[in-house]
Parts: sequence; C-alpha cells; structure tokens
Amino acid sequence: MKQPATAAQVRQPESYPSYVSHPKLVHWVQEVARLAKPDRVYWCDGSQEEYDRLCAEMVASGMLIKLNQDKRPGCFLARSDPDDVARMEERTFVCSKDREDAGPNNNWIAPAEMRATLNSLFDGCMRGRTMYVIPYSMGPLGSHIAHIGVELTDSPYVVASMRIMTRTGRKVLDVLGRDGYFVPCVHSVGAPLAPGQKDARWPSNKEHKYIVHFPETKEIWSYGSGYGGNALLGKKCFALRIASIMAREQGWLAEHMLILGIEPPDGEKRYIAAAFPSACGKTNLAMLIPPAALKGWKVTTIGEDIAWIKPGENGRLYAINPEAGAFGVAPGTSDFTNKNCMAAVTHDTIFTNVAMTPDGDVWWEGMTKEPPKELIDWQGDAWTPGCNRKAAHPNARFTVHSGQIPSVDPDWENPDGVPISAFLFGGRRATTVPLVREAVNWEQGVYMAATMASETTAASVGQVGVVRRDPFAMLPFCGYHFGDYFQHWLKIGNALKEPPRIYGVNWFRLDGNGKFMWPGYGENMRVLKWIVERCNGRAGAVDTPLGRMPRYEDMEWQGLDGFSRANFEQLVTVERQLWREELKGHAEFFESLKARLPRALIAQREQLERAL
Ligand code: GTP
Ligand code: SPV
Ligand code: MN
Repeated sequence: MKQPATAAQVRQPESYPSYVSHPKLVHWVQEVARLAKPDRVYWCDGSQEEYDRLCAEMVASGMLIKLNQDKRPGCFLARSDPDDVARMEERTFVCSKDREDAGPNNNWIAPAEMRATLNSLFDGCMRGRTMYVIPYSMGPLGSHIAHIGVELTDSPYVVASMRIMTRTGRKVLDVLGRDGYFVPCVHSVGAPLAPGQKDARWPSNKEHKYIVHFPETKEIWSYGSGYGGNALLGKKCFALRIASIMAREQGWLAEHMLILGIEPPDGEKRYIAAAFPSACGKTNLAMLIPPAALKGWKVTTIGEDIAWIKPGENGRLYAINPEAGAFGVAPGTSDFTNKNCMAAVTHDTIFTNVAMTPDGDVWWEGMTKEPPKELIDWQGDAWTPGCNRKAAHPNARFTVHSGQIPSVDPDWENPDGVPISAFLFGGRRATTVPLVREAVNWEQGVYMAATMASETTAASVGQVGVVRRDPFAMLPFCGYHFGDYFQHWLKIGNALKEPPRIYGVNWFRLDGNGKFMWPGYGENMRVLKWIVERCNGRAGAVDTPLGRMPRYEDMEWQGLDGFSRANFEQLVTVERQLWREELKGHAEFFESLKARLPRALIAQREQLERAL
C-alpha cells in the first residue's frame, strides 16, 4: 500500500486535524495507536475525493481490480483470501462480566482474559500500515434514533466499504461535538508488515481471528479478518450486538430486519419490518417488484438488513434503517429475481468474490440462465462451465449505496423513522412450517419468533443446510441472553397502544421432488397483500392451532398460472406429527434458557401443545 497522496492529511500518530474537538476521542485514538503501532494515523473526512484516492491506491496495490468502466462505471472487484470469506460465529465473543448475561446463545470468555489476549494480539499489529480513523453514524445524522461509532482500522477496503454502508467523516464529528457519545470499534487485519515486506493481496491472519464485544463498556475489538460483518464493525457488531444491549437498556429494538413500504391502489400506505436469517431473502423482499397482475400495488425500500425501532409518543413503533447501503449476497441475484438490485449495482459498487468476465464485467451463479463460456473465478483462476467449481463464492457480495436502489422509499432518511404496521418472521424450512400465519396477539407472535428455526447458509463459515433454532433471526447477533431478549420484546409490545401484527412466513417449503412449492420472489407480494389487507381490515382468515391463516379465497391468485388450489392447500397444511416433533425442539431450546425464559412463553407452548 502506497502512502496516501496528500501529505497534509497524513498525521503522525500523536497529531490530529484541527477540526477534531473531542478530547476523549483523541485520547482513545492515541492510546490504540500506541498499542497497534501503525506507521501513520489518518483521520477520514468522508469526502468523495478521499474515497476515489483510496480506491486508486488499492488498485495500485492489487487489493482492488478496476472493472470495465464502460460497463460498470465506478465499480471495483476485491478477491479475499480463500480463508476469509464470511462471518465466523465460532470466533465471535460476547465478554460480559457475568457469563450468564451473554446467554447460551453467545461464546463467552472472561473479560480480563480476553483483554489480555487482545492486548498481546494488537501489540504492534498495524506495523507498516496506516491506521484509519472512521467516525460514522448509524442512522440519519442527528436522528434521535441514530447513534455514532468510531472505527479504527488498518484496512482501506473497510474505509471504502464503511463510506458506502454508513454516513462517515467530518460531518459525523460535527454532530459528536466536544463530548458526544460514541461506540469505540477497533479493527485490524492482523498482518503487520516488516520494512520492505510485500503486502498480500488480501491481508488477514490465518492463525488468529477474534470478533469481540464488551457489553459493559460497549467496545468492539475485531482481529484477523477483513471480510464483511467481521470487519465493517458498524454492521453486525454495533448495529446488532452492541445496539441490542443499548436497546434493552433504553427501551427500543435493534433487529436483523428489512423494512419495506407497501402502497395499495386504494387505502393507507403501510410499512412492514421482516426478520429472516442471513441469506434467506431479506434483500430480495425489500426490493420486491409486484407481479403485473397486482395492478396499482407498489413496494418501496427503507432497509434490507437491519432495523432500529423505537416506540413513539403515540404508542406506535417507528423504524429507521441504521445503514446507508447494502452488503448483499450476489449469487442468485438476477433480473428475474431482483431487478431493482441489478439496476442498483450497475455503477459505483464494490464487488467482493464474484467472478469476472474476459471483458472486465462481473458474473455469479444465477445471474444469467447460461453461464459465460469463460470466466476468471473469485480466486483469480481461469474458469469454464464444465470445470466443477463455483465461479463466484456462495457468499460473494456487492456493496452499494442505498440511494442507488430504484425502489428506495422517499422517507428512507427520515430521522423520525416510519411507523411499523406488521412484523414478519421467516426461516428457511423445507418442511413443517406453513406459507403464512398471523399471531392472534403479541405474545403468540413473540412465541412464533422465539421458536423460529432455519437452515444454515453460506453467510457464515461452517456447515450449510443444517436446521437450527434461530430466534428472531438473531442467533448470531443478539448481544445478550435470549431469555432476557424475549422478555424485552414482551415488555415493549405490552406498552404499545397500537402494536404491529406479527406474522410467520416460509417461502422455502419443498415438494417430494425437492423443488420449492412456493414461487417466491415477486410472487411473495401475494402474501404481503393479504397482510396489508388484514391490517386495513379487508381480508378474511381462518383460525388454526398455529394462528390465523388465509383461505384460498382470501388471497389474490390472478396472473399466477400453474399454481392451483391444491398447491395452496399443501403449503398451508399443518402436519400434526411433524408439529409434535417441532414442539419437542421448542421445549429443548427453552430448556437451554432455563430460569431466564419468560413464563408467558412457557404458557404459549403449553397452549399450542393442547391445540395440536
Ligand atoms: P444477509 O444479507 O446475509 O442478512 O441475507 P438476506 O436475507 O438479505 O439474503 P438475500 O436476500 O440476499 O438471500 C439470498 C438467498 O435467498 C438466495 O439463495 C435466494 O435465491 C434466496 N431467496 C430469496 N428470496 C427467495 C424466495 O422468495 N424464494 C426462494 N425459494 N428463495 C429465495
Ligand atoms: C449476514 O451474514 O447476515 C450479513 C452479512 O448481512 S455480514 O455483514 O457479513 O454479516
Ligand atoms: Mn444480515
């Protein structure tokens, strides 16, 4: 990596720009610099000029490849180390003082022991590199729902990505003022450079990886990985794990949810927040294009991964998207599955671990029906359709600013957020779980979400396709004990005048031949329409032990050829034997939460058992 071009902006570790007026921030930056010993400290101003310069430097160093500028203007490709391709749940820790507070849902190591480990790993870990200081806001600048973080990192890829994904730079320091609160986040790829040593294309640490959260001091320390949620600390580390802890203390919610707006041809516009586990369709649902047959229905996008939700004075919930961009899964994205997304990534996008065409464009599995005749795969090797390797990594992603999404909602940066009318919870379930059901009340809805399960995906390192409990799609992201988290949800709901309705959905049920029974994607609009009409008091439903479900005649089927009443009935059948097994899974999971499990959820389980 060359030195940044503008010498005036390159600071000695002990100095800082004159516009920085926050003594505590300065002190902390100097302290970390003394430990990590970077060659220089650079305070990011968040400007376009700075972004362009950093990208040019990364192209020069080989970390980024400039894509064909006629086909993808402003686009770059990064190829990560093959051992650094996804989140690592096994290396993620919540180090609360009391082990119990982290819950069985988190890895825990005593804070003192973890601090000793981190102190030795971070000692000199930035030698030969620049330490970048990134002030950033999660949420519109100055919003009463937003919060500020500062990330220190030795990765210019992280700096560029954070500028797309959050609001960064000098304007954030203006909001922070002299003594504003910020969450301190320290990140290193863990690959110091000796004098004259040539840098790796994608530096990381093969031996040690740690993604660490200290709940009491609300600090984040990440070491050894440069990829996604491991390194862009505003995302899962702050906006979910630390924010979930802040939210519990302060009476709000930090959730792994997309937010979308739905405008019916007549009637009130509604906003829905929906939780799905990683790589289970949030990005697709958030940018959905309704089928032509549903004339006059319009969907708009507020967010596609994370929602911060706060009760308003009027007893309703209001949500913002704390992010300003999407870090979305590339494989499977196409003009057929997500046209809005394809349009968003035509320019000014950073692609990571996708394949490259001979003329410098991008490709991934599922983008086109026929793959190109030749490609360069995500690791930089020659690829042909018959070679038996994936061209793109299954967790290859694009990083793009939300403003580029054609369906972006006019209120996506509204500092007051948007009112939420319904919550959706959906896992990836091949069997058992019906297409859609409505909870009869908040408690049943919380039970539905708390007992949700899903198959694991390539978004995290480890086995793919294993069904596991993933309550609220928050298993890898809740920063504290799930029992306390469920209690918090019950408490928030009980205090609302107008609680959102709660729905469970499953797009992923398979038939006997292993094919998806539900067409999904744009056709999910049919389920959303039923939900909005339920909210507007216009659609019917029938009671079942699992909640209220639509009858065939309660949903719109116009324009969906080849999908019969019998297909629908199959999607909503409740197979009692499978549900008795499912309930055992619920009981087992509840057992692990022991004394902290709310009694109301035990009662819900018993009620369901009786109903079945
Ligand atoms: P993270 O960014 O990892 O949190 O995930 P996400 O929930 O935003 O994931 P994304 O929308 O990128 O999910 C992509 C995966 O879901 C791909 O494998 C898609 O093929 C699949 N998918 C999305 N929507 C549907 C759907 O309606 N039906 C089916 N069967 N698959 C879907
Ligand atoms: C997820 O895994 O849920 C993501 C991607 O959204 S990452 O930012 O890597 O966590
Ligand atoms: Mn996610």
